[in-house]
Amino acid sequence: MPSATTLAGRRRLAVALVAAVAVLAPLGFFWQGSLVPGDLSPMAMGYADYGGGPASAHVHHGTEVGQLTGPAEGTPDVAVDLVAREERFDVPGRGPVDGFTLNHTSPGPRIVAEQGDLVQVTLHNENVADGITLHWHGVDVPNAEDGVAGVTQDAVAPGKSHVYRFVAEDAGTYWYHSHQASHEQVQKGLYGVLVVKPTASDVIAAVHTYDKIRTVNGEYGERRVKAPGPTARVRLINTDNGPMAAWVDGAPYKVLAVDGTDVNGPTEVRGKAVLVTAGGRIDLEVPTTTAVRIGLGGGPTTLVIGDGDAPAGAEPRERVDLLTYGSPKPLGLDPASADRVFRYDIGRRIGFFDGKPGMWWTINGHQYPNVPMFVVSEGDVVRMRIRNTSGQVHPMHLHGHHVVVLSRDGVKATGSPWWTDSLNVEDKETYEVAFVADNPGIWMDHCHNLPHAAQGLVTHLMYTGVTTKLHLGGAAGNQPE
Ligand code: C2O
Ligand code: CU
Repeated sequence: MPSATTLAGRRRLAVALVAAVAVLAPLGFFWQGSLVPGDLSPMAMGYADYGGGPASAHVHHGTEVGQLTGPAEGTPDVAVDLVAREERFDVPGRGPVDGFTLNHTSPGPRIVAEQGDLVQVTLHNENVADGITLHWHGVDVPNAEDGVAGVTQDAVAPGKSHVYRFVAEDAGTYWYHSHQASHEQVQKGLYGVLVVKPTASDVIAAVHTYDKIRTVNGEYGERRVKAPGPTARVRLINTDNGPMAAWVDGAPYKVLAVDGTDVNGPTEVRGKAVLVTAGGRIDLEVPTTTAVRIGLGGGPTTLVIGDGDAPAGAEPRERVDLLTYGSPKPLGLDPASADRVFRYDIGRRIGFFDGKPGMWWTINGHQYPNVPMFVVSEGDVVRMRIRNTSGQVHPMHLHGHHVVVLSRDGVKATGSPWWTDSLNVEDKETYEVAFVADNPGIWMDHCHNLPHAAQGLVTHLMYTGVTTKLHLGGAAGNQPE
């Protein structure tokens, strides 16, 4: 027979259990609600946001993403075979690191094309266990060539291949990288440079950080290249997750292009740095009759162009402001008569994401995957207001399109049209951008601080009538971020 004390003890225990369940049940509800399904169609994600436009305008009748390919016929002008491997490789100036290579190097081979060339890249996965893809960052390719696992193709499993074919329509500085488990694969080396319409004066400066080792063109420390002539076109590429200031010690410079688009009427810059957004590219014109040093974020890695001593300076405090740099010219679209107007508000809140407690990103107040799906129809003029109140900077990247900056914090852009595909949105900043929906498909629109994307700072732009059979997760294990 139980004694009176154990009976009281059991009663206390029961009361405690009921109280615990009362507290934990709602928590469990939120926890479960935060789980990202292991198999999810991007089309079923979140909720449709039509931006004030019709739900289905002229519908592209049931176009599958897989049909939106580059030219199937024709001999490529540029044909490249890339073999991806997980292996140890050497970072000159620093030593071996473990990561991923393409044809045994990281960065992978440079791909160089003339404007209008048909580019064909055959990607083989030798042994990357999670699978891989290649995304052509900044190149507005047809949707099926965009390389996003689970949205435009399945991840390429070990032993398998995938062929990308697209026409390099726009001159400019671009890069490519894996878009499968990208927050891990890009940082560990699966990336390379793509230049359309190279010039004789090109100097490439692709900056990448391998496990705290910042490199330029895959090499650590002061690196030197020959002066290509009296001036150089320095193609700066930031393949990292955070913004990078770049500047020139020992000479004035001009900003010739931003994210592949030439600046109209670039003027001479002295004593200022230029910000290269994560994922972004900036082309500079630099006089190289004497040796000059390109400062790349302020660490030990710099690029010296020319022979002899090059001055070494500190990062200038002032920055080139692309809102006012260069001279205006027509945008070729009328933002005042936009067909759709969206907002992309980035916030942060306490809660669960995929079952994990923490501080998580929100988009218009929602957490991934319950985020807005921005729906457009082909031909729409679209305006989007991007506002960041999340406490951190986010480099926002829309696939398949370039957007033009209309204003920042209510101040109108007055310089050269600022066309961008990688926009640095600081905390408490608001940008208004516009674009023409001229490339049908389903396109990622995400933060290019890739760990942030993996934490759910991802949404999509979807054209009415375009569908995909692909799934996130699923049998191919697609995990684009
Ligand atoms: Cu540079 Cu979604 O990618
Ligand atoms: Cu971010």
